[in-house]
Amino acid sequence: MSGHGTPIPMTSTPCGPLKGEAHVPGDKSISHRSLIFGAMAVGETKITGLLEGEDVLDTAKAMRAFGADVVRDEDGTWHVHGVGVGGFAEPDNVIDCGNSGTGVRLIMGAMASCPITVTFTGDASLNKRPMARVTDPIALFGAQSVGRSGGRLPMTIVGAVDPVPVRYTVPMPSAQVKSAVLLAGLNAPGETVVIEKEATRDHTERMLAGFGADIRTEETEEGRVITLTGQPELKPQTIVVPRDPSSAAFPVCAAVITPGSDVLVPNIGLNPTRAGLFTTLREMGADLTYENEREEGGEPVADLRAKFSPDLKGIEVDPARAASMIDEYPVLSVVAAFAQGDTVMKGVKELRVKESDRIDAMAKGLRANGVEVDEGEDWWIVKGLGHGNVPGGATCESHLDHRIAMSFMVMGMATQQPVSVDDGGPIATSFPIFERLMGDLGAQLSSAAK
Ligand code: S3P
Repeated sequence: MSGHGTPIPMTSTPCGPLKGEAHVPGDKSISHRSLIFGAMAVGETKITGLLEGEDVLDTAKAMRAFGADVVRDEDGTWHVHGVGVGGFAEPDNVIDCGNSGTGVRLIMGAMASCPITVTFTGDASLNKRPMARVTDPIALFGAQSVGRSGGRLPMTIVGAVDPVPVRYTVPMPSAQVKSAVLLAGLNAPGETVVIEKEATRDHTERMLAGFGADIRTEETEEGRVITLTGQPELKPQTIVVPRDPSSAAFPVCAAVITPGSDVLVPNIGLNPTRAGLFTTLREMGADLTYENEREEGGEPVADLRAKFSPDLKGIEVDPARAASMIDEYPVLSVVAAFAQGDTVMKGVKELRVKESDRIDAMAKGLRANGVEVDEGEDWWIVKGLGHGNVPGGATCESHLDHRIAMSFMVMGMATQQPVSVDDGGPIATSFPIFERLMGDLGAQLSSAAK
């Protein structure tokens, strides 16, 4: 688990063109859900392309602790024998979700309507993050919880013995909270209704429908109204996990800022609730094309080709797009440093409660590397210097946050001086092959792990 090990300092030295194909790992959001929903189905779910990063492996371990049989074949296929909706056993020990907000919040939702008591914990990053956003709605089902001050982990949840269905409007744009409420609703009788004012990633809705749940979404004046009929028998699935657009973001952005680059990132899921970064990069003048556009497993997929883009310009990012690129703002802020003019990012308060306070972590690291940044509670502005003009030369703190570490490694590929991070260890939570994959494209990364 990251955050418990020795820090792994990492340095990115300015490099020549990045060339070749980048086969990024499976989608993290879909990987967590495949294991959790598989554990709640009756029978055997088969998963290929699962992201084998620490976050997802912690979720696999948790599902075993709840009584599901979860095994990995030698060929990399995962088999999950589920216990059925409402069939979770009480774990013998504390559930440690490591660095993963998605893991802990979805699992809390899934167990909240089961008559079991579970204690959750995580690493130093996860134990700082707000959990009231999940414990508030699951209390409506009848679950009780007690945690540390500020609604933080470690936390014990006593699941509802006689859960009741709920109608809940999610107060912040959060797919994790939406999903937690829907998962709690699975074991409540009747209809659970979740309303979200801004559309967030819809993998839970799509996948639960695939598992045979009766779930429908209506666009109304109130927002997206999602209605789930409780206590279905979920049918096991064969799942091919698409590659993660949030991981693709790193080689794509690296190619856009590194002179002479031409990188193909095949098979990327382009679900519109996830693809906001690519639209934004194109608006900034990035040379990004979608090749071989197609549908796979009900999701739009394409091969992305990213080339060095000499004429990037700063833009005001449409705040309506924030949820569809929420994990990509750190690496976008790096691209913004290489653009001409200001890039304005508004409506992004949620960035402050991710694996780190991502506005603060990026602003500090960008400034240390010679880039000016202005910030407020829910906005920030990166003052771009243009290609060839970004100094670099500093060591940044990654704050146990994989995306902060990878963003600064991308930055160092095109700065005047190398860029370092104090700890690249957290990269293993979501993109364990990052260093090798970027190295194969031509990046010059070095770490104590090599
Ligand atoms: C995720 C939802 C988002 C995202 C996270 C994955 C998910 O979090 O940042 O990386 O899989 O549901 P929030 O729900 O906190 O926005």
